[in-house]
Amino acid sequence: IPVDPFDLVVFGGTGDLARRKILPALFRRYVAGQIEGDVRLIGAARSEMDATAYREMVREAILEFGGDEAGRKTELAAFLKMLDYVTLDAKGTQGWADLAAKMRTDRICAFYFSVAPSLFGDLAKRLHKHGMADDESRIVVEKPFGRDLETARALNRTLARHFHEGQIYRIDHYLGKETVQNLMAIRFGNVLFEPLWNSQYVDHIQITVAESVGVGGRGDYYDSSGAMRDMVQNHMMQLLCLIAMEPPAKFEPDAVRDEKLKVIRALDPVEPENVVRGQYEGGDAQPGYRAQVENADSLTESFVALKAHISNWRWAGTPFYLRTGKRLKERASEIAVMFKDAPHSIFGADAGRHHNILTIRLQPNEGIELGVTIKEPGPGGMRLIDVPLDMTFAEALGPEEADFPDAYERLIMDVIRGNQTLFMRGDEVEAAWAWTDPVIAEWDAQSDAPLPYASGSSGPDDALMLMHRDGRRWREIRP
Ligand code: BG6
Repeated sequence: IPVDPFDLVVFGGTGDLARRKILPALFRRYVAGQIEGDVRLIGAARSEMDATAYREMVREAILEFGGDEAGRKTELAAFLKMLDYVTLDAKGTQGWADLAAKMRTDRICAFYFSVAPSLFGDLAKRLHKHGMADDESRIVVEKPFGRDLETARALNRTLARHFHEGQIYRIDHYLGKETVQNLMAIRFGNVLFEPLWNSQYVDHIQITVAESVGVGGRGDYYDSSGAMRDMVQNHMMQLLCLIAMEPPAKFEPDAVRDEKLKVIRALDPVEPENVVRGQYEGGDAQPGYRAQVENADSLTESFVALKAHISNWRWAGTPFYLRTGKRLKERASEIAVMFKDAPHSIFGADAGRHHNILTIRLQPNEGIELGVTIKEPGPGGMRLIDVPLDMTFAEALGPEEADFPDAYERLIMDVIRGNQTLFMRGDEVEAAWAWTDPVIAEWDAQSDAPLPYASGSSGPDDALMLMHRDGRRWREIRP
């Protein structure tokens, strides 16, 4: 269904995110027929260029990052006609009157702040000053949303001076991933899992977001951030919330976000002995972390594993083990719900111990797998084995249906539709920082180096120990 007509301004319209994600996502939604008619997409940035040059820049970006749709020449030409450009100084006066003259008031107006957070306040203020924003306008902001509780609060306060919460769309692109939304469908669309979804039946839960790439060209940003700020405070926390939250009464923005917030607030502080951090070494002609970020003494972590506890009725006694890192053996993200052993084995001790595992594969190879125990075939008596009931979405749905849209496609359309369900609320972001801050503060206080791990491995050995000492094991990292 096409969305209503809108004008979208992308501040930082020549930047990396705009070229790689935002504009290709808009183009794919255009090809899909969701954007049509009299829509205007205005890039705004410091570079001096005119609309023609901007269209050419966007054309190249879409050819490079637009995926299969990039080959649709006629659609691309028509899409580029929607684009306009304004040279603009976020902190000064240049360009603002031009921009105001281009905006139309009879439609949805959205402003994407694809710029450094230090500019959020300037943009918000000038949008009002130049009469471009009213109570219906929307602003979209990206992570990093602060680098700790204090800076996140300050950002929230700055934005709140000009926009109310219902207008602020804080993006966590993990929430736009099809399989992440599927977590809610699996939990709350089936009767099968929810009765068992608690500490009486669940031994523990493992959440793994493993990347095989290193920090690439983002060394400066990453080295001042690290895996805890870059992945755990936001993406991992969102996964944890969706897996652990109570059923919201409705699939509506505040109903869902209230439940997520309760999970974050119920998290116990992480004990130092329950966190392991690592930094990758070089290997296979690839530079190690420190060489890559050009900081020979860097104490920044590219890997974190930790054990979290949620102190509420549902989860008391069921630990959540989280791990994420770069340059690991595979790119593979999954959530595994490890159920308890059956309370009593009627087959005797020889049958061994067995338990069910529900694995939700987030990427790649998206799907669900349920480990069940069956009889080993053969006449040799009652021996039990564990086998997977495996559903890969691409097989079950057909390749076309399982050709999932990019997270940004879904999220930008939600901004236009005015649906905040998949966006983070200000209090949620602050609560997440309140939980991660003490862990980072402890590392800063110790000022010891993260544990080195080999590129292409599963992370430092201590991360394995985090599980072993509880008599548990990480699942293998594999797609
Ligand atoms: C980003 C992080 O938010 O998420 C990156 O800044 C990380 O460091 C990326 O690589 C992972 O996203 P995805 O969609 O590739 O899993």
